[in-house]
This record gives sequence, structure tokens and C-alpha cells, in this order.
Amino acid sequence: MATLALDIPDHIDPSLVVDVDIYHVPGQVDDFHQAWKALQQASPPVVWTPQNEGHWIALSGPVLAEVQSDHERFSNQIIVIPKSVGKLHQLIPTTIDPPEHRPYRKLLNSGMSLAKVRGLHETIRATAVELIEPFVAQGRCDFTASYAQVFPISIFMALVGVPMAESGHIRYLAECMTRPNPPIPFEEAKQGFFDYLGPILDARRANPGEDLLSHIVTADIDGRQLSVEESLALATQVLIAGVDTVVNFLGFTMLHLARNPELRKELAVLDFPQVLAATNELFRRFGLVTIARTVRHDMEFHGASLKAGDLICIPTQVHGLDETVNADSLKVDIARKGCRHSAFGSGPHMCPGQELARAEVAITIAEWLRRIPEFRLADDADPRCSAGIVGQINRVVLEW
Ligand code: HEM
Repeated sequence: MATLALDIPDHIDPSLVVDVDIYHVPGQVDDFHQAWKALQQASPPVVWTPQNEGHWIALSGPVLAEVQSDHERFSNQIIVIPKSVGKLHQLIPTTIDPPEHRPYRKLLNSGMSLAKVRGLHETIRATAVELIEPFVAQGRCDFTASYAQVFPISIFMALVGVPMAESGHIRYLAECMTRPNPPIPFEEAKQGFFDYLGPILDARRANPGEDLLSHIVTADIDGRQLSVEESLALATQVLIAGVDTVVNFLGFTMLHLARNPELRKELAVLDFPQVLAATNELFRRFGLVTIARTVRHDMEFHGASLKAGDLICIPTQVHGLDETVNADSLKVDIARKGCRHSAFGSGPHMCPGQELARAEVAITIAEWLRRIPEFRLADDADPRCSAGIVGQINRVVLEW
């Protein structure tokens, strides 16, 4: 990576400047994860880039986890790069710091607890089976379009008790809020979510059920209920966070399985709890969320002089790929001991949807391998990658 003499702020040590665009890391088109790992290996733990309005990047796994979990030094006020877009985000609970963050998280944790997710397993399994069964006789399928883009949103619609009719529109809006240079601006996509969710939340307020949206509008937080604005910002965040992540994670996973018959065989003989446990190694290998924190005050941090208000990017994918943390890190080894990663973050904002995500991935793998144990990538697949808040894989077409 070239070190450039650019017009950089005075507090930045020029030896830490790397001219990299986090949304176009060199080599990412061919392999998103290899590209980030190569950047990590060629760089000091913390670097500064002039791209995207200028920001830091934490590239060492342990340093990234430190930034992510330490809300005393690193705020969630702005978590999207560039800063001008991040300022518009303002969703709940992602852009709120503790202690104000706590009651919102309590609400989400109870609405998406392990017990609640276990209660959804059979719905998730039935959805997976219904989608996979028709593929078997076809001998091939566009996994991205026919499964990955349909499955998580169907589960989400079940979780919130909403019919599937508008799922395409929702996916489009979610993509617009997680990718750079979207076809409609971030604010317009956010308003689209509010327009969609507003009447549904009103209906749940009037007639609550057992679903997550009813829980959001009726839950008691510190002796009150959420305002209309708060419930919209919270419900929108849950929707965005739970769709594009799973869509692309499934794409990266199935591409890897298509290319690795030994791993398929190892997974095919496991019982379901073992498959569920094995997904942790997949999440380590295929982390994909690139977010940021706002520096709260001037400080020296792992060789970098950070200034209050600077943004520091935390590409969660680099933690699991750090060789100092997980040896031979590009290899998926489901027997790996002490596997560590930040795919779901760490600290107060750690993903409340992780049990749901793990279940969606494990059920997909188990039900797929049961019916289609042997498969490969088709010649007309387009597994090119791109980056955004969520790493993307274009089109995984499988045949058998
Ligand atoms: C592949 C699947 C997923 C990955 C890799 C993932 C990753 C993450 C990460 C890294 C964060 C932390 C953000 C931060 O530290 O600022 C996060 C937060 C969050 N995730 Fe997930 N997620 C996934 C699936 C889901 C699902 C299925 C849902 C819900 C349906 C969900 C809901 C959320 C919410 C609401 C937050 C914000 C939590 C807070 O700010 O307190 N996620 N996720």
C-alpha cells in the first residue's frame, strides 16, 4: 500500500497514512476477506486514510475489539463513514452510548432472546425446507436470488408478524442504507422505512400481539413506553441490521462450501447442535460488517494521535483473520480451539440478533446438505465482491 504525501491534518503522523478507500480495498472484487487481511498484514495496527473525508482504521484484531467495546473512549454517536452520511444515521440503539443505550438494549435483548429464537427454530426450518426442496430436482439454482435474498427477510417477517408482500421493497431500502453510492440517498431510504413501518407500528399499538414489533411498542423502558419516533428508529435499525448481513453471509458461506468438498463432508455428518456450534468458525472466517466509532477525546492510541471527533473505522472482518489471534486464519477449521472474532461486535452494542443469525445459517447448512450434499459453483456465477457497511457477494449460482 503506497504511503502518500497528501494534505493531511497536523495531528496525523505521515508514516501512518495509507491511501485506501474502505469501500474499494485493493483486491476486494476477487476476495473481500483476503483483501482486508492483506491490508492488515501490510499495515501498522492503526492507520489513517484521506479517503471518505479522512478517518482512522483499526486493523489489528485486538485493537479493533478494544475500540469497539470501550464506549468511554469511543462513542457510537457516528458509526457510518463518511462522517457526512454517518451524521444522518441516528437510529436506535446503534448511535446511542451507555447509559442511555441500556434500556433500549434491554428491550431488544428480551425481544430477541435465545429462548425466543429457539421458539422460532421450527418456523426457520420450515422456511428453509420450503425454499430448498424445489431446487433438488432442478440440478442448479441461483442461490443468491432464490435463497439468500428471500430467506432472512421471510424469517424477519415471521419475527415481526408482517406479510411477505413488501419484502422486495424492504430489501431494496436496506441495501440503500448499507452500501456506498446508493441509487437513493440514505435519508430517503430511512424515510422509506419509516413510511412502511409507521402504520404497522400504529396497528400493533392499538392491538398488540406476541411479535417483536408489538414488544417494541408496548415494552416498559424506565417507566414509560417508546415514543412514535423512537419506535420507528428502533424497528428500522432491527430491519436493516438483520437483512443484508445474513443475505451476504450466506453467500460467502455457500461459495466456500461449493469449493470445499471436505468441509461439506465434515458438516454433513454433524447433528444439529454441532452444526450450530460450527457456525462460530464460519462467522470468524467471514465477518463482514465495517462500521466506525467517534473518538471522544484527544489520546495516544497504539502509536496514533487521535483527536476528539475523529472517526475510527472498525472492519470487524479483520479480527477473525488476524494471524496473531487465529493461526492459519483463512482455513475454515470447525475443530479450531479458542476461535476468536468480532463478527458480531463486542461490548455494549454486540449484535442482539446473533442467536437468530446463527440459527438461520445452521439450519440452512443442515437442510441444504441433507438434500444436496454435493454441489459446485456454476460457470455463470458471478462471485465478485464489493464493500459497504456490509461486505457483499454478487451472485452465487450453484449446480449439482
Ligand atoms: C450475519 C449476520 C449478522 C452479523 C454479522 C451482524 C453483525 C453485527 C455487528 C458487528 C453489530 C455491532 C455494531 C456496533 O458495534 O456498533 C451488530 C449490531 C446489531 N445487530 Fe447484528 N448482525 C447480524 C445479524 C443480525 C440480525 C439477524 C439481527 C436482527 C434481526 C441483527 C440486529 C442487530 C441490531 C439491532 C444491532 C444494534 C445493536 C446495538 O447497537 O446495541 N443483526 N450486528
